[in-house]
Amino acid sequence: MKKVAYINQKIDSFDSKIYVPGDKSLSIRWILMASQAVGTSIAYNLLRSEDVFSALNTIKKLGIDFKINKKNCKIYGKGLNGFRFKNNTIINAGNSGTLARLIFGLLINSKNQIILKGDKSLSKRDFSRVISPMQMFGQNIRSNNQKLPIRIKGTNYPRPISYNETKGSAQIKSCILLAAMKTPGKTKIKSIPSRDHTEKLFKYLKLPIKTYKEKKLDIISYKGVKNYKGFNYVVPGDISSSSFFIVLTLLSKNSKIIIRNVNVNKSRTGIIDILKIMKAKISLKNKKNYNGEYVADIFVKSSKILKPINCPVEMNSRSIDEFLLIFLVCASAKGVSKFNKIGELRNKETDRLKFANTFLNKIGIKTEVTRDSFKIYGNPNLKLNKTYKIKNFDKDHRACMLSFIAALTLGGKWVINDIDSINTSFPNFISLLKNLGAKIN
Ligand code: S3P
Repeated sequence: MKKVAYINQKIDSFDSKIYVPGDKSLSIRWILMASQAVGTSIAYNLLRSEDVFSALNTIKKLGIDFKINKKNCKIYGKGLNGFRFKNNTIINAGNSGTLARLIFGLLINSKNQIILKGDKSLSKRDFSRVISPMQMFGQNIRSNNQKLPIRIKGTNYPRPISYNETKGSAQIKSCILLAAMKTPGKTKIKSIPSRDHTEKLFKYLKLPIKTYKEKKLDIISYKGVKNYKGFNYVVPGDISSSSFFIVLTLLSKNSKIIIRNVNVNKSRTGIIDILKIMKAKISLKNKKNYNGEYVADIFVKSSKILKPINCPVEMNSRSIDEFLLIFLVCASAKGVSKFNKIGELRNKETDRLKFANTFLNKIGIKTEVTRDSFKIYGNPNLKLNKTYKIKNFDKDHRACMLSFIAALTLGGKWVINDIDSINTSFPNFISLLKNLGAKIN
């Protein structure tokens, strides 16, 4: 694949209907859960991106077979004790933080040791967030200063834990729930709300999970151990991928888009609520239930001169992967937008707060940044006419795709490097843009 893209003109008006590929979080969760089921599971519309192939290759290395073709993906699970692998098997999670964090849970009682590795970006990320709860269960972990490569060996007698999850991280919560599945007794989690796909999948499979709210926290408990049968699953479209097209439409003139069959789980739709507060023209229609998850069509129209936002902190985990796009919208809004307690953005595929700050300054937007807050002085009359080179972003797929949306809506000449990073989550991103009329070389 080409590594550099050149964009020299804005996208013309469009009026279109599109589908985006299957949700990444749900695709990875389906693979991990299907690997633990007894018998064959089948998924339709599974995302075919590098992170998802890393997950399929991981279960394969752990002794679980799969078949994938154009129509569907089949996984031949062998139950909760079905993993078979040699001591010191190497697993490469590639760029996927979700896979790398969640796999700890499934290895809670592994007899042999695995060595978990990842790409350059994943190797810079911190794993203490899952190492400490997994050690409480009794897992044996040896790491290089809480970073990859990490050696993981299970325990014969995992102990259920009570855990306070304070970062609003679905990866930590899900890792604990996967370990709880293989641990006799009751595991409890008190958590700042974050995406709840694992809980919903457990409920869809009728597993013994209980959830309720206490003040603003989620209380979750799970009573292990219970096997479950292979299951079929239809993966809905990814709201995070859709968001690039939502913002493209909002910031383009006289344009409209309908994005069909997108997962609109409440814990993921922060971007829609934020953009609506900013007076963007977005609506959800045809809402229906797919395997315990809500799906809808998203209707978006170009929206002139948006209002700035003082972003409520409850929105943070509900829009955690969409902040780069939200910041771009704020750059075109009339007034100052403010974000607090967003330090988690520094722990993503790249330090997204640092990236956003440099990016917005590069296009002439004034900002104020601290360790965990961000202020953006929007300019609705922003007109770009220089050349903008985008590089050194740790191959963060979302930073890369953001640059395409900025280039196509703000003007100027753009040279975007490392575009192969897009394959992490959204391989047909550029072809969908071209179908809408974008000129990309
Ligand atoms: C994910 C959770 C989020 C998100 C990531 C996917 C998941 O991370 O940023 O892209 O599928 O559980 P955190 O849970 O660490 O916030």
